[in-house]
Amino acid sequence: MAVLVTGGAGYIGSHTCVELLNAGYDIVVVDNLSNSSAESLLRVTELTGKEFEFYPISLNNRPDMEDIFRNHKIEAVIHLAGLKAVGESVSVPLRYYHNNISGSIVLFEIMHAYAVNKIVFSSSATVYGSSEQVPITEDAPLGATNAYGRTKFMIEEIMRDLHVSDPTWSIALLRYFNPIGAHESGRLGEDPNGIPNNLMPYITKVAIGELQELQIYGCDYETVDGTGVRDYIHVVDLAQGHLKALEKIMTTSGVEAYNLGTGQGYSVLEMVTTFERVTGRRIPYRITTRRPGDIGMCYSDPTKAERELGWVAQKGIDEMCIDAWRWQSSNPDGYQDEDTFDEVHNPKLIVM
Ligand code: UD1
Repeated sequence: MAVLVTGGAGYIGSHTCVELLNAGYDIVVVDNLSNSSAESLLRVTELTGKEFEFYPISLNNRPDMEDIFRNHKIEAVIHLAGLKAVGESVSVPLRYYHNNISGSIVLFEIMHAYAVNKIVFSSSATVYGSSEQVPITEDAPLGATNAYGRTKFMIEEIMRDLHVSDPTWSIALLRYFNPIGAHESGRLGEDPNGIPNNLMPYITKVAIGELQELQIYGCDYETVDGTGVRDYIHVVDLAQGHLKALEKIMTTSGVEAYNLGTGQGYSVLEMVTTFERVTGRRIPYRITTRRPGDIGMCYSDPTKAERELGWVAQKGIDEMCIDAWRWQSSNPDGYQDEDTFDEVHNPKLIVM
């Protein structure tokens, strides 16, 4: 019996694989590597001392996806595969709909065909749209503001319909707030393509000297210091949330959404000063205009996850900043300097 992890080579996926393996689960990973590197999976093996099979394919590749279900006894799926850049989703929406939605539909069809109906889905606080009613509970109104957000919202809705059609489906929709930080070993972390869009990877790239200064998008929000407030959550806490959700769906049926956040909001300036204090690096910054589409304040009410999953985030922002910096400073080029595929003979299946 194995857990299939889609998008397992990505930032959240690789940390989730480590937690699953450490907890004794067998895993099978599928990832098309469009925005990730197989090197992360080699490091998952290095950190856990455990092997697993990796399929470098896209979810839209139906025959190869079917092979996975034919060749493995898949018990449950953790579905993280998807494109996630907000700005890009606005310029190439069809790519987002094809990849995220069509890919998910292929996955669900094959799960149905093989009678696998337990799934943890990587959703996002983005499904709350521009709601500024904080803290945000799971029953807040939904409404995404861009194509990326709409793919997450639509996949949630598709899964709710699946459950209506067959109540034996067991589905956890995990709505992540702002994942940051890295594995404490410094071996796994976030490795964005090009110039980062998100705050923490931008800060670490300024800290290492790759980017000159941080631009802070607006200082006139109704927040503690005028800069945007978010609920940052350590990626290892987030990964552990997937395990708790998995344990839950193994023994129940239904469809439930859970906020995964700390419940604490921090402003951009608070993040900058915390990063400077715990790492000793200076982050030059300049305040500019608001980024279109941004809201002032967004943080979770995570009590449902605590009550129903027994999950509470453990790590604070000091640890998030320290771990993000350890990752960035020990991997200045991310995963790119490694030549992972040298010894691969069968490109359809790799034993990590
Ligand atoms: C963004 C996405 C959201 C996605 C999430 C993933 C947008 C509008 N939203 O959320 O859909 O789920 O990432 O983590 O892109 N900031 C700066 N300077 C920067 C970068 C960010 O000041 O260079 C500020 C932002 O204005 C915001 C905060 O830092 O107040 C966090 O920004 P970011 O990390 O991009 O996350 P979100 O915008 O919350």
